[in-house]
Amino acid sequence: MLNSESILAIQSVRLDHVNNAIILLDQTLIPNETKYLTLTTQEEVWEAIYELRVRGAPAIGIAAGFGLYLAAKNIAANLEPTGAFDVFYTSFQQAKAYLASSRPTAVNLFWALDRLDACAKANAHLPLAEIVSALRLEAQSIRDEDEQVCKSLGEYGLSLLKPQMGLLTHCNAGTLATARYGTATAPMYLGQERGYHFRVFADETRPLLQGGRLTTFELQSAGIDVTLICDNMASIVMKNGWVQAVLVGCDRVAANGDAANKIGTSGVAILAKYYGIPFYVFAPTSTIDLKCATGAEIEIELRNPDEVTKKWYARPMAPEGVNAYNPAFDVTDQHLITAIITENGIAYPPYVETLPAMLR
Ligand code: MRU
Repeated sequence: MLNSESILAIQSVRLDHVNNAIILLDQTLIPNETKYLTLTTQEEVWEAIYELRVRGAPAIGIAAGFGLYLAAKNIAANLEPTGAFDVFYTSFQQAKAYLASSRPTAVNLFWALDRLDACAKANAHLPLAEIVSALRLEAQSIRDEDEQVCKSLGEYGLSLLKPQMGLLTHCNAGTLATARYGTATAPMYLGQERGYHFRVFADETRPLLQGGRLTTFELQSAGIDVTLICDNMASIVMKNGWVQAVLVGCDRVAANGDAANKIGTSGVAILAKYYGIPFYVFAPTSTIDLKCATGAEIEIELRNPDEVTKKWYARPMAPEGVNAYNPAFDVTDQHLITAIITENGIAYPPYVETLPAMLR
């Protein structure tokens, strides 16, 4: 039986560097099974990201960082120890591009791969074995820093909340999606420790049910009062007066504050605006992409229509061959967002002015 301590002790992705493997909790099996996979090749890492065995922007970045490190180690193992950096780097770039093609929206994926790339270049003068060691430390730092980032998001987030509040969240921005604590869930865990007695409503999050399968699993295991609702019930719980704040994660925030997150998030934001409920986006700075001026520049992943019609059902729930549209994310307009919480502080509108200050 899991409890608050054991749910937070779960490592959704970690490196077993002695055995040259990534140990990854298969999130597609939760809540029915807690099974860890052992990944050793870049193809396995690509598949795990694409199939959402590891998902959530920070966890995707962590997995990709470990994946590129393992690829680099394999590349170096097939070259002379004193092999030329250029030869190593050409193959390294190919592995980087391959892993980058696994999913398009969460910028943490590209951010993590770029960090390893910069590390390789900075150490180009060293023997290959030392470059590989530096890459391992960099990949591990991406993971370890995320834990601190989430802690800080929790403190800033909690400062916006009061005991007994009703909170609503969409998708899973929890400990499973990060190194630990989650982003939007971090204040819930902290509040739990400090006796805030929040009541959380978790949107089921069609079509892949990250809220129904993962967020409820996490929060219930931690002893947090959580109630599962279908996505189309958010309006009634808000109208009933049961929600005092909406807390969501994000996959990419543009320079003007537009925020891409799991499909359905922008609808929740519109409802929150209508009912006068603050709408908070939790964004590690690794999720802020100032290169995108607005949300219109964020690529939205389109996924297999089967996920809508049959994925989680024993029998299809739509006629064979029907057209189905399956965008995995949407963009919440910045004017619907009350504040963007980062590990370096809370940004309020106008985001175009306040977000750059968060990226110190
Ligand atoms: O498709 P997913 O499950 O990777 O989508 C995840 C989300 O949209 C999360 O809300 C987001 O990545 C933030 S996770 C801290």
